[in-house]
Amino acid sequence: MPATFQLPAETTRRLDGLVDQIESRPGEFVDAKEFAERQSELDIKSLVANLPPGLTEGDLVGILKLAFLTECATQSYADAIDASALACEAPWLARFTDRVWTPDELTHHTPYKYMLMSLGFTEAELDKEVRETREKPYEHRGGPTPVHVTTFGMIQEYLTDNWHGLIGRLVRPVSPLAAYASNLVKKRETLHTIWYRDMTALQVEADPRFATCLGEELANFRMPGNSLVPEFQVQAQNWLPPLGADFSRIVKDVLRLLHETLGSTRLTGEMIIAFAATKGIALGPFSARQLRGAIDRLGGSGYGLLGEAVLEKAGLGYLFAAEASAAGRSRGTAVYLRLRGVMRSWISEQMVLRAESL
Ligand SMILES: [Fe+2]
Ligand SMILES: [Fe+2]
Repeated sequence: MPATFQLPAETTRRLDGLVDQIESRPGEFVDAKEFAERQSELDIKSLVANLPPGLTEGDLVGILKLAFLTECATQSYADAIDASALACEAPWLARFTDRVWTPDELTHHTPYKYMLMSLGFTEAELDKEVRETREKPYEHRGGPTPVHVTTFGMIQEYLTDNWHGLIGRLVRPVSPLAAYASNLVKKRETLHTIWYRDMTALQVEADPRFATCLGEELANFRMPGNSLVPEFQVQAQNWLPPLGADFSRIVKDVLRLLHETLGSTRLTGEMIIAFAATKGIALGPFSARQLRGAIDRLGGSGYGLLGEAVLEKAGLGYLFAAEASAAGRSRGTAVYLRLRGVMRSWISEQMVLRAESL
């Protein structure tokens, strides 16, 4: 990471413009009042007798409470983001957080409250759990700068988007309104993912060294639920398969999102090295530190090759096909492309990068 966080005035102007645009067209928020008025239609009690194999009633409650309680703690996350924005003089980030993101997020837990009430919880019990979760200290494990924060936001929003989608699918057979509500929240998280992606991309465009920050953030990433509701968050991985989710596809999607944000295989390679170094994992026979030294001695072009190898390994080879063929053309030789392909495959075969390490 660069020694100090500083963006050129032009980039700050563009980020301000992006937030202006988001503020003027934030899309349709979840209407908490509508769900309060139609809470009888959010009854999912009959799902208990028809759960997918591998899920119990306790699991169903846990799945819903994970969404309900992590969504209710919006202000804790907003405070952590605002602290970064203030320390790094990034008013655009504070403005986005306070004027758009927070009021939007504050509505997301409402539909889950009524679904949980249909399973026998009283409003008073759930309100008490909300108060307790909001009072818990939120431990933000990510890096301190706005580029770390927006990268964290992008990954976290993508994963949350996925979670609401899985719940929507689970409850659809017993309550179309509950499925609609989950998908409405999911759509908001999709928008948040895109907004954070655009903010991150603008910062990386201004200073490509920030690729390292993306790698650090990926390595240190932990869902907020780990600090606020660990009893539910710890079970999320076990719930994914019976909910019909594929963990390796999720990892692949996160990698694609990061690569698209960085915009080049070279920066993806730099991100992967930072990720492996932060996590202390080896990429094949070499430690990340040794590999970084070797690549730096080669003049840096090895980062692109490493980026390609990682994408190939993850089944995302199509993402760099156009970039690689343009590079080959500019060097005027098919031999270059073939040689590069052989080296890339060799690195990819050597690489020990399992989905679990992400
Ligand atoms: Fe949310
Ligand atoms: Fe969100």
